[in-house]
Amino acid sequence: MNSGSTPNVPKHVAIIMDGNGRWAKERGLPRTVGHTKGVEAVRRAVEVAGDYGIRYLTLFAFSSENWSRPEAEVSDLLGLLRRFIRRDLAELHKSNVRIKVIGDRENLKGDILPLLIEAEDTTRGNSGLTLIIAFNYGARDELTRAARRLANMVEAGELASQDITEHHLASQLDTFGIPDPDLIIRTSGEERLSNFLLWQAAYAELVFLPGYWPDFGREMFDEALRIFAARDRRFGGLSESTTAVVG
Ligand code: IPE
Ligand code: IPE
Ligand code: MG
Repeated sequence: MNSGSTPNVPKHVAIIMDGNGRWAKERGLPRTVGHTKGVEAVRRAVEVAGDYGIRYLTLFAFSSENWSRPEAEVSDLLGLLRRFIRRDLAELHKSNVRIKVIGDRENLKGDILPLLIEAEDTTRGNSGLTLIIAFNYGARDELTRAARRLANMVEAGELASQDITEHHLASQLDTFGIPDPDLIIRTSGEERLSNFLLWQAAYAELVFLPGYWPDFGREMFDEALRIFAARDRRFGGLSESTTAVVG
């Protein structure tokens, strides 16, 4: 089903994986069970993305605001990410997946950062799906860090402030070198970005699915891709059909 040549398959899909807690609550289970089930959905998402020939898959795993959750839940979420890397890295590597991590790397305690770096280093040379894990990620934080770096460059005389372009700003973001997402999916029925890829989402198609993240799999992915394929992306211009009529 490799659809590298299939029209309307997005090159980059980004997902706000939401609803683990509600999935568990509906079943009278602790939230942590929802998070554990969510890891299985991550595996399905990676597999289906690969099948479709999607080149980049970004998953919002932990936001810079998620630290405000109870300590036990934060620790659960970090534990799951740690276990996911430990258990799945070899398999992902074998599947030619290249892992990249975005988010703030400063002040992270323990072994989580070394593990993420190991995942990046191990898979750096792979040429299949690029799996981007957004961890300790917040778009406002990312933009603030970028602004700080640009200010440092100006201060050092490497760049004149009046010469700063969109490209300079984009080049200081964690996503430098990665094309902007074509499609952003959010599960759980919430219709907001929650500080995810605010700059990069400028022309992304947003698809909000009612299902909870632990139920995500081929069916929900297909549904989002169908909705995406039916959208008319104009990027501020006119659609092709309009151009045909006018022109
Ligand atoms: C998504 O599920 C997981 C993370 C945000 C890390 P939630 O934990 O946000 O689940 P809900 O939104 O409470 O249902
Ligand atoms: C967004 O979900 C963050 C992740 C999916 C990692 P949240 O559940 O944290 O977002 P809000 O709080 O409902 O906006
Ligand atoms: Mg949530």
